[in-house]
Order: sequence, then structure tokens, then C-alpha cells
Amino acid sequence: MTHAQRRALTTLWGRFGVDASTAPLDPATLFERRAPLVLEIGFGDGESLAAMASADPMVNYLGLEVHRPGIGHLLLRAEALALTNLRVMCVDALEVLERQIPDECLDRAQIFFPDPWPKARHQKRRLIQSYFVTLLVHKLKPGGQLHIATDCEDYAHSILNLLNATPELVNQAEGNGFAPRPVYRLLTRFEQRGWRLGHAIRDILFARRGRTE
Ligand SMILES: C[S@@+](CC[C@H](N)C(=O)[O-])C[C@H]1O[C@@H](n2cnc3c(N)ncnc32)[C@H](O)[C@@H]1O
Repeated sequence: MTHAQRRALTTLWGRFGVDASTAPLDPATLFERRAPLVLEIGFGDGESLAAMASADPMVNYLGLEVHRPGIGHLLLRAEALALTNLRVMCVDALEVLERQIPDECLDRAQIFFPDPWPKARHQKRRLIQSYFVTLLVHKLKPGGQLHIATDCEDYAHSILNLLNATPELVNQAEGNGFAPRPVYRLLTRFEQRGWRLGHAIRDILFARRGRTE
């Protein structure tokens, strides 16, 4: 962690940080306004999340990450861009989904390049599994979107199969396949690594069914 990142974790936490607890969050209180809410899980160094929040000031962004240097990096970007629509938590996403994110509050959940854990014996550590998806789906508003991108081929296919088999979700891509990259998804650090290695990048885009569907 750089000195600036460590300093940011102390001096900027009060402005952008949200302490983990067991109490449910109230997004309107957190952001001091009502607006559409996007949740990003595992934002890494947060460069793309900060740029998205800056480009989209009418939308509230909540970022979850466990890697403290990355959080420090994002806090510095948030300060430089004078963001008022970004809040950050240093927390395991599963815990915050279980305890703090209210049902039906998210307009979009996005997970860009979740840790791939490519070795077969490590795949049980992958974030996107059945229990996690069940939990996350209930946090989406009806019609809310779930957007995942990955450069790990077998993970991409297992996520696609899992989401296609989730009755509450509808694949937004033709033929129930992978989606074209939405314009709002910016290049992330991990995606750059994927391009360098010649990996195919896949977007997976679903929406929660509306109440009448
Ligand atoms: C491969 S990196 C991708 C980072 C970034 N999205 C990018 O594309 O550059 C995956 C990130 O997810 C974070 N992560 C992994 N498990 C997590 C969890 N349970 N809760 C929150 N963040 C998590 C890691 O710390 C890491 O920064």
C-alpha cells in the first residue's frame, strides 16, 4: 500500500466510506438522496468505478472490495473527481449481501473480472456460485440488471449456465448467450491483463423478471 493510499483510508473514509455492521443499509440515507443504485462487487483499484460514477452523476454507486490498497486508490480518485454519488465498503460481498443490502433495492449489480481461480481444486473459492446468485437476485429490483464480465473461459460458461437456469432471471442477449459489451463498461486493470494474454472477454447480462412476467 502506498503512503497516499494509507492516508486516504484514514482521511477520506468519513466522506466516502461505510463501516460494515449488521444493520440494514438505507440507500437514501447513505447517499442523502433517492436515485438509481448500482452495486459493484470487487472493484479492484476502482479506476473504472470512479470513472463510471463521474460520468453518471444521477446514479448512486456503492462499491465493495476487500483489498485495502485498492480501496485507498479509489478514495483518492473519488476525492480528485469530487464525487458525491459514490460510497465504498471494505467488506466481504457475501456478508454484506446477507446482512445489509435490503431486498429489491438495486437497479444494477456489476461484477467485472471476479477472481478466476482457474485450478480445478480452487474452483470452490469462486464467488459466483448458486447460493451467491440466489442472494444477489433478491437484492435486484424487478427489472434490475446483473452484469458480469470475465476473461476466464470456463468460468464464463459456468456463470452463463447458472444464470440461464435461474428462474427469476432473463438473459438479455440473443439466443441466451453472451452479450455485446455495454458502452458503459469501461476498461479495468484486470481486463487489460486479459487482453495482453490474448483472452476472450465475455459479458453476461441478465435482468430480474418483472412482477407480472
Ligand atoms: C480479479 S480482481 C478484478 C478487479 C477489478 N474488477 C478489475 O477488473 O480490475 C477481483 C477483485 O475482487 C475482489 N474480491 C474477491 N472476493 C471478494 C469478496 N468476497 N468481496 C469483495 N471483493 C472481493 C478482490 O479483492 C479483487 O480486487
